Amino acid sequence: MNDLPRALILKSEHYDDVYFSVHDGLAESRHVFLQGNNLPERLEAFEQESFTICETGFGTGLNFLSFWQMWKAQKEENRPKRFKYISFEKYPLTNEFIKENLSYWEESLGEVLKQYLDIYPAGLNQKKYILPVGEDGELILVFGDVNEEMPKLQDKVDCWFLDGFKPSCNPDMWSETVFQNMARLSNSDASFATFTAAGFVRRGLERVGFDVRKVKGYGRKREMCIGTYKGRWSCA
Ligand SMILES: C[S@@+](CC[C@H](N)C(=O)[O-])C[C@H]1O[C@@H](n2cnc3c(N)ncnc32)[C@H](O)[C@@H]1O
Repeated sequence: MNDLPRALILKSEHYDDVYFSVHDGLAESRHVFLQGNNLPERLEAFEQESFTICETGFGTGLNFLSFWQMWKAQKEENRPKRFKYISFEKYPLTNEFIKENLSYWEESLGEVLKQYLDIYPAGLNQKKYILPVGEDGELILVFGDVNEEMPKLQDKVDCWFLDGFKPSCNPDMWSETVFQNMARLSNSDASFATFTAAGFVRRGLERVGFDVRKVKGYGRKREMCIGTYKGRWSCA
């Protein structure tokens, strides 16, 4: 497995960690978040009209793009009518910066990357953006700290993409506030996936009602976690 060209390894100055795998961020996103949440199979079995994903840590939007590309490739009759993708970001990146840093995947992402760059806000001067995505989607960007913003959210969530930096570099992202709000917002059987298998993250999710499993991580990573919200069943 080769590393990305050095110039394309995107590192955060705030957290001293990389935004995505140094091998291939798009392949990692598909492995961890799509496969980890059993998408697209879950969409096929889903019976409601609209499917809601919530992500902690939007960054460049690479996870959103890998999801949207998958959604578009799935036959309409095999998925819900609409999707909503909600994501939090404390340090929003500019359109130009994202364009430059995702250019490596221009060919693999094709049309979705172009369309995404057209809708991604230019000014970043609002706290919240509700962006129509094609004819059947909505991207909701909430710019602020997830610990302050998630408690204000009222949307019910079917699927979680937990993508902060490593818990050791960014413990605030993996907080009790986040776990408790995930439980408050989760629909029955909401799924989650995350690249980390850190013990305190697993225990935090279990405490609020998620059934947590360790599975093989992307590339050289031995483990990551996936799971399902079972809280409502045990309370019934
Ligand atoms: C590993 S990167 C996410 C990569 C991203 N999903 C992508 O596709 O580029 C983690 C992101 O979480 C953001 N972040 C870290 N702590 C946060 C917090 N407390 N609230 C909101 N966003 C946070 C970082 O600024 C960073 O963009």
